[in-house]
Amino acid sequence: MRRVQRLNRRQFIRALAWTSFSLGLGGTSYATLWEPSWVKVQKIKLAYPDLPPGLEGLTLLQLSDIHLSRVVSRSYLRQCIQMANQLKPDIVLLTGDYITRQKKYIPLMAEELSHLKSPLGSYAVLGNHDYWTHGPMVKTALRKAGIHVLTNQHTQIQVKDTELWILGVDDLWAGIFDLEKTFHGTPEDRFRILLMHNPDEFEKASGYNPNLILSGHTHGGQVSLPYYGPILTPSRHGNLYASGLFKKEETLMYVNRGLGLISPPVRMGVRPEISLFTLHRETRYPA
Ligand SMILES: [Fe+2]
Repeated sequence: MRRVQRLNRRQFIRALAWTSFSLGLGGTSYATLWEPSWVKVQKIKLAYPDLPPGLEGLTLLQLSDIHLSRVVSRSYLRQCIQMANQLKPDIVLLTGDYITRQKKYIPLMAEELSHLKSPLGSYAVLGNHDYWTHGPMVKTALRKAGIHVLTNQHTQIQVKDTELWILGVDDLWAGIFDLEKTFHGTPEDRFRILLMHNPDEFEKASGYNPNLILSGHTHGGQVSLPYYGPILTPSRHGNLYASGLFKKEETLMYVNRGLGLISPPVRMGVRPEISLFTLHRETRYPA
């Protein structure tokens, strides 16, 4: 019979210290080196009972919270854009925070985003960090990259013989958040998608009955612990709208976890994401 050797007190403490150190080092390496660039393509089917036939199967790709900076590299963004293009979306929708704080990253970010491909165009709103860096410069750079920037504005595009309306409300924290102006003149009986960087005003925005709201801002909390959830979400609702799909009456809202990060430069349990939505007409609501 094999004898189990017992550790004395000193050996036990030493083994415990090494185990903790290794786990800590592994966890830190994972959260700083691996997960921040481990992008997940989140495919989401959105079912609407009254979806116009012309929008059946339409694909929308959302990117959010890129935060190009010292800790989010241009090469990482380039890989994300390549992944996005491989998904061949019909429309690209961008929900803000392209930059964290430094103006020098604005042209680099725009140069990379100019490679996005979508037959029906790319549309964007700004986030709080874009304003805290330089809102006008970010808008100009995005426009030069061929992206339509919407600031309390809307636009109508034609998908086959069907109207689709894309609306963009200005940022809640750093812009002039004006839902009334954004929705004014848009027909309620047409499919309307609202880009809204910060999800905090979901209740208010859903009162205008858009079919879909796309948000970001939260980064999913950036660090989410098992059995606990995100440890800190920048929202007055706490973790309520940290990430994922929400529904209020006829309106669905999706909160994207973002691609980049802000300090501390860690992601844990909240992988960066590219969201790809497909619209379907179904009697079940939602899918
Ligand atoms: Fe952000």
